[in-house]
Amino acid sequence: MLTILNNPLVQRDVALLRDTRTTPDRFRAAMQRIGTALAVHAASNLAVRTTRINTPLEETDGYELAQDIVLLPVLRAGVALVEPFSSMIPEAKIAYIGLARDEETLATREYYYNVPKLGENSLVFILDPMLATGGSICATVERLQSVGARAIVIVSVIAAPEGVKRVETAFPSIPIITAALDRCLNEHGFIMPGLGDAGDRYHGTV
Ligand code: PRP
Repeated sequence: MLTILNNPLVQRDVALLRDTRTTPDRFRAAMQRIGTALAVHAASNLAVRTTRINTPLEETDGYELAQDIVLLPVLRAGVALVEPFSSMIPEAKIAYIGLARDEETLATREYYYNVPKLGENSLVFILDPMLATGGSICATVERLQSVGARAIVIVSVIAAPEGVKRVETAFPSIPIITAALDRCLNEHGFIMPGLGDAGDRYHGTV
């Protein structure tokens, strides 16, 4: 179930991310704005519980999140979405998974995993700006399901049709939210037109 954010502000910022003239500071700022829009959309179906609160004038309904939210960035590029998501969902715990993609075989290798115990009420947002072959996302979902994760939402910024198809085929009930669906993968597994290596551009390590 793929959702593409068709919002003019997001489209403008995706173009900024793609543009080779965009410096790391402007890249981070655009990623922050896109991440905020993604967070708002990703949170639109969160369960809430009502409470009672007092305004200075009278008692009225208040609301609290009724789910335990876990943000799971896929290192390194997923770090780019932590700040916007944690700003919008300050209740969330922040977990990490480190995956390296072999540039020859495109296979994923896990080098770090630190996720808190997940309960029945947990909802994990997997954060990775790039969904290319889908190998990293599939490995992350499998890892989460092996420790009992039930509710998962995948958040991407730029996705390739090939990767979306792979993830949707493997996990048809898991929602995917992205800011852009690109044309295809090239022979090296890079998204076209894409934006290059999101981790490098965000961290200024190009
Ligand atoms: C990139 C990107 C995703 C992954 C997507 O990470 O940030 O995590 O590749 O590719 P896939 O869908 O084919 O798995 P990379 O391995 O370049 O690591 P980095 O984020 O540390 O730069």
